[in-house]
Amino acid sequence: MPAPIEFSKQYIQKADMEMHEMLDKWEQLSQKTRKRLPLKIEDYSWNTARPDRVRPTIIAALQFVSHVERPPHLYSQPILQAARDAGVTSLERFIERTWLPEETNHGLLLRKAAIVYGAVPQEQHDRDLARIDKLNFPIGRGYTAGKAATYGEGQELITDLFYIAMRNNTYDPNLRSVLSDLAAQEMFHSRVYREFRMRFATPEDTVEAIAGFKMPGHITSPKLQQYSTGWAHELGFDFKRMRHSLATMLIEQSGYQGLGRVVTSEIIRNDYPTPIRTALSLANRINNPVINSLSGRVAARVSGVKLKAV
Ligand SMILES: [Fe+2]
Ligand SMILES: [Fe+2]
Repeated sequence: MPAPIEFSKQYIQKADMEMHEMLDKWEQLSQKTRKRLPLKIEDYSWNTARPDRVRPTIIAALQFVSHVERPPHLYSQPILQAARDAGVTSLERFIERTWLPEETNHGLLLRKAAIVYGAVPQEQHDRDLARIDKLNFPIGRGYTAGKAATYGEGQELITDLFYIAMRNNTYDPNLRSVLSDLAAQEMFHSRVYREFRMRFATPEDTVEAIAGFKMPGHITSPKLQQYSTGWAHELGFDFKRMRHSLATMLIEQSGYQGLGRVVTSEIIRNDYPTPIRTALSLANRINNPVINSLSGRVAARVSGVKLKAV
């Protein structure tokens, strides 16, 4: 792993300007495309909802995602802090003008869906949401702008794939269109974070953000979070695409060595049987560039990423 990178003031200003130009274009586009504006409850036909035609896993998952999407005001705080500390005004702009309004509406839309499709009685749901509003949310605190962008890219990608898996198993037209629109916005968010990550993340930022990755559901609704991997398998969540995208992100930013450091870290090795877990743990402790690079190349192959001769 090369020595930690410090970006110069001039570099940050130039990259910030590029991001502003990109945001100008996206904001103009959002005036023309409905999906690129905050989604509104009144845009959907709730009176056509047929909860009896929606499978129970989807209904249970609606309660879960409604919890997770509830407090973007809490999620945005460390990102805004990181953006201000680094002088990345475009990241502040994206969060305040686009991300926060869109995510706030995701929460409102999913609250409505969870109630209409009978996931949970309204009073109980609102009590849970009020508890979530007051959470002391630890993820992202102290992150740099690059680390926040890397986390955001990964988190939005996983959320997008989860909504796609839910949508693909939903035949109720109203809920299908809610889930499709949500997935489209999450994909857009991931795409924007990717642009920030490519400009502002150091190799260390990317490795640390992914190796220490935790979905927000662990904090908002730890009980339901336990079921989410099972639901994902049942609904045909695209794990292959997730692995491919995360591995590509790591290779772009930190090479095979960075990917190697992540695959030997706790978050990945705990999913493997004991002998592999022990070998990965050992490699992690040794933290040798050659071993890291080798582990990274193996992980890239397993994730379907084409190896480069570097
Ligand atoms: Fe969302
Ligand atoms: Fe999002």
